[in-house]
Amino acid sequence: MSAALSRRLTRHLLAGLLAWLPATGGAIAGEASIQERLATASPARGEALSLVCRACHGFAEDAAPTLGPNLWGLLGRAVASEEGYDRYSPAMAAYAGVWSLERLDRYLRSPAEEIEGTSMVFPGVPDAGERADIIAWLGVVSGSLTPPDGGFAASDPDESALGKWENADFGLLVTAEGAAVTHAYCTVCHSERIVAQQGLTREDWLETLEYMVDEHGMAPIEGPEFDLVVDYLSTHYGPDRPNFPSP
Ligand code: HEC
Ligand code: HEC
Repeated sequence: MSAALSRRLTRHLLAGLLAWLPATGGAIAGEASIQERLATASPARGEALSLVCRACHGFAEDAAPTLGPNLWGLLGRAVASEEGYDRYSPAMAAYAGVWSLERLDRYLRSPAEEIEGTSMVFPGVPDAGERADIIAWLGVVSGSLTPPDGGFAASDPDESALGKWENADFGLLVTAEGAAVTHAYCTVCHSERIVAQQGLTREDWLETLEYMVDEHGMAPIEGPEFDLVVDYLSTHYGPDRPNFPSP
């Protein structure tokens, strides 16, 4: 488990957490229920998988809404209720009720199928095990899920954090340390070409990232991931343009 995750775990385990929510609505046909899957889920793996959410969502108590609402306290929270986020779709508002494990599981599997007309432009996570990992991580960091008795399944952080992404295809971006997190953050709103064709100093990359947050609504990159991204960009997309993409 990463240091960041264990810090958050300790912080939130002590907080008054919600008990496991009762089931509302059905499980997905052909899959074990989300409760069953959570019993063998790995929040550490979920942390790595949740890279795909982070350009659009904050998870900490004080995170500001960005492209998407802050997800702090999500489980048990009323749908479309984050104060300060004024871009909920009418479809999300009409979905109503609260976020249970089952609803979240179905929404993340296929957002547009669960809530037709949702403005969350995200294809979903088809793998049931991966969804359980993400939900385990999200529940705990957002302070809204109590781990099962005896804790979540142990998992090796190296394997969990890197295994999934190591051989992934990052398109125009070179595969190297930091590629996964950079790709996840920077391709939410535009192609990787716009990133790869720059040749900027570290300083200029820092400014560019600030500009993405201030002007374009990117969720700020926090913790060790921030350095990973800045190191990656300034090493591979520096002024000498070592990886300038061919046309
Ligand atoms: C491209 C940006 C984007 C990505 C990537 C994304 N989301 Fe969202 N998300 C949104 C937007 C926009 C909304 C508001 C949707 C609406 O109102 O229909 C939203 C809404 C939500 C909600 C409803 C919250 C509430 O307040 O009711 C949940 C839960 C959620 N997202 C979870 C996730 C998770 C988990 C991931 C990653 C697996 C993810 N999202 C990836 C943009 C995104
Ligand atoms: C929330 C949406 C969003 C995210 C996330 C985002 N960008 Fe951008 N970015 C934009 C928009 C909008 C523009 C300006 C329009 C365009 O040129 O397509 C832009 C433009 C840029 C440019 C060109 C700037 C210029 O003036 O020439 C660079 C470089 C860039 N982004 C880098 C990044 C990097 C690196 C990341 C990831 C760390 C990132 N962006 C993530 C929205 C975003």
